[in-house]
Amino acid sequence: PPGEDWVAASLKMYQDFWLLPSTLRGTLACQNHFQAHNSDILLASNPKSGTTWLMAILFALLNRAKSSDSDSQACHPLLTQNPHDLVPYLEVPSQQENPNLAAFTSPRLLATHLPYPSLPQSVRDSECKLVYLCRNPKDTFVSLWHFMNKVNPEKGQIPLPECLDNFCRGMSHYGPYWDHVLSYHKASLEMPEKVLFMTYEEMKEDPRAHVRRLAGFVGCPFSEEELRDGTVEGILRMCSFDNLSALEVNKSGKSSTRLENKVYFRRGEVGDWVNHMSAEMGERIDGVMEEKLRGSGLKL
Ligand code: A3P
Repeated sequence: PPGEDWVAASLKMYQDFWLLPSTLRGTLACQNHFQAHNSDILLASNPKSGTTWLMAILFALLNRAKSSDSDSQACHPLLTQNPHDLVPYLEVPSQQENPNLAAFTSPRLLATHLPYPSLPQSVRDSECKLVYLCRNPKDTFVSLWHFMNKVNPEKGQIPLPECLDNFCRGMSHYGPYWDHVLSYHKASLEMPEKVLFMTYEEMKEDPRAHVRRLAGFVGCPFSEEELRDGTVEGILRMCSFDNLSALEVNKSGKSSTRLENKVYFRRGEVGDWVNHMSAEMGERIDGVMEEKLRGSGLKL
């Protein structure tokens, strides 16, 4: 009914995290069947942390012959497809059933919103690389609230205060938000060669440095020549908010994205939460984070 946070009402707890029933089936399927390759690269995140952006950047840097020379650039896959169609989610059932996953060339680039402890065992046992993207909780929360309202207009707008209550109790898609972040933060401290912990805010502040860092981590660092010839800038331009959000992408595919391209892009800014929440609401999230992250060495 209107006036209710129907998203939270539909969440189911699985392995200590809140999932939508639609993701549960795919989660079980990938936990039971997914076989990681040592060369796989997995992008993990809480929803609305900038996943689409990092998907595009990782895709572009792994396929950078296509990203740099101007002939290939004109028909680059990122110009015609949404990044979500190029980087399949582990836990989306249609992707598991997608025979193309097995046929992906190496390294396979995949995404997941699953928390670290719920990843398929083969991911944790293999030498595959995980890049975790974390975004500050206030912007993540506001972005999630907008997204849920946008993709379900028929349900009426979710009241923001009720949604905030639920978020602060841990009830959000793949929440608790803080346990999700902490699970990967801990893994990145214990296995720095396997898990890279990055933030949306540091990417926004110095994208060039972080694209270089990413390239090194996934085992394909930029050459001196590439650093000089504008390859990094080309990737950043192609993956910029303005470029990706303006594209008329092909929606025909098998696609996890039965959604319009524009749904994945809203403002793409740091600190936009102030336009939607009062200072008290912000302080409430800060208070919860301070309590939950205490002792972890992580500050958000
Ligand atoms: P806002 O709602 O704050 O604008 P996800 O991809 O994990 O769903 O995250 C979506 C958020 O990332 C949205 O944030 C969206 O606008 C932002 N975003 C998408 N593409 C981006 C890009 N190329 N650069 C920066 N931010 C981007």
